[in-house]
Amino acid sequence: MFDVNKVREDFPILKRKINGKPLIYFDNAATTQKPRQVVAAVARFYLYYNANVHRGFHTLSQEASKAYEEAHEVLAKFINAYSWEEVVDVANTTDGLNLVAWGWGLHNLRPGDEVVVSVMEHHSNMLPWRAVAERVGARVKYVSVTEEGLLNYEELERVVSEKTKVVAFPMASNVVGTINDSRRIARLAHSVGAIAVGDGAQYVPHIPTDVRELELDFIAFSGHKMLGPTGIGVLWGRKDILESMKPFRVGGDTIKDVTLDSVVWHDLPWRHVAGTPNIAGMIGLAEAVRYLTRLGMKDVREHDVALVRETFKGFEELGDDIVVLGPKNPQVRTGLVAFNVRDLHHHTVGKALDLLGIAVRTGGHCAHPLHYRLGFNGSVRASYYVYNTLEEVRSFIEALKLIISLRERLAKEPVEEVCTGT
Ligand SMILES: Cc1ncc(COP(=O)(O)O)c(C=O)c1O
Repeated sequence: MFDVNKVREDFPILKRKINGKPLIYFDNAATTQKPRQVVAAVARFYLYYNANVHRGFHTLSQEASKAYEEAHEVLAKFINAYSWEEVVDVANTTDGLNLVAWGWGLHNLRPGDEVVVSVMEHHSNMLPWRAVAERVGARVKYVSVTEEGLLNYEELERVVSEKTKVVAFPMASNVVGTINDSRRIARLAHSVGAIAVGDGAQYVPHIPTDVRELELDFIAFSGHKMLGPTGIGVLWGRKDILESMKPFRVGGDTIKDVTLDSVVWHDLPWRHVAGTPNIAGMIGLAEAVRYLTRLGMKDVREHDVALVRETFKGFEELGDDIVVLGPKNPQVRTGLVAFNVRDLHHHTVGKALDLLGIAVRTGGHCAHPLHYRLGFNGSVRASYYVYNTLEEVRSFIEALKLIISLRERLAKEPVEEVCTGT
């Protein structure tokens, strides 16, 4: 197991004090912090070999192209892709899922076809499918979740039919934390000739990912949730499907040749990456992947499990003042816990935690239907990563105890709506 205290040294931000208290950063499912190594890799690119890629014979362009292409290889190895050509750089998970919905869906869905998604979805894996379905006259069907926050597999098996062309689902939920059985879902989708699309935003950063074992057709994930820069993510796709797809975004870099009445599309992955790519982002993300690989993804996962276990242990002391969303078994969930404090608004709890130096996310976490299904209009979410410690979890539990002891006073505070669209 890696030495968390040593890891923390790579993240100067963790030395900050917030409201006079040491920062405890528990908002990693929204975005993680960045280690020095990632920032340095991005800075090195901009300071010493910045140039556009795939466009010039000059030395800087060659160096930039090499680093950018190598980054695809690093990413491919990280998820055990068959080839780096299957790694399409996109802006983030949302962008990757839109690329599948519009790039594949628009050309392959017909009126009357069905797209199956779950109630557990982040809006990013629900709204693109709804938009495309509306455009082509297809139908989106929803599979429910159980009271415990598990995907209802029996219902999934009933809903998937010959009409189904896509089954899209979260590989791990950003609210209930549930890790879904990707292979089971992929096999079910394939049994009716549908494609299986995994939203990997909360999975790939936390759990060893082997795309060959998972048997999915597409997986999208974000760099910024795994120590990398913002503005970069990956859409991994099966090569034959990526090859069969017409580029959804077209322009420079997507082509080999253009005449006034014809176009020859580029090889993979470039045909799906229109215009100047996020070169620095890819270089930074590759550095983040090198960092995680040094820690070892199995240990990253174990560390998450230990933090979640400690959280539940602490919650036991708080009794029924805490209502957890999702299953209680740390082994079946990813490294986050969403909950509510009885009789307190989630924003009030978040604000009070911030006064104590603890950063959590509050709101609907871009998963409103799931919250409504579970009987809430929002929740507080503590989400962990490699630099978080068991001591921090203990301080968090103590902070919650204090908040609960002040509940009557806090409940009178006006609730501030901090942001919209979440
Ligand atoms: C499960 C899930 N899917 C998709 C997303 C969207 O990620 P991004 O905002 O990086 O596109 C998130 C972000 O929180 C997420 O948790």
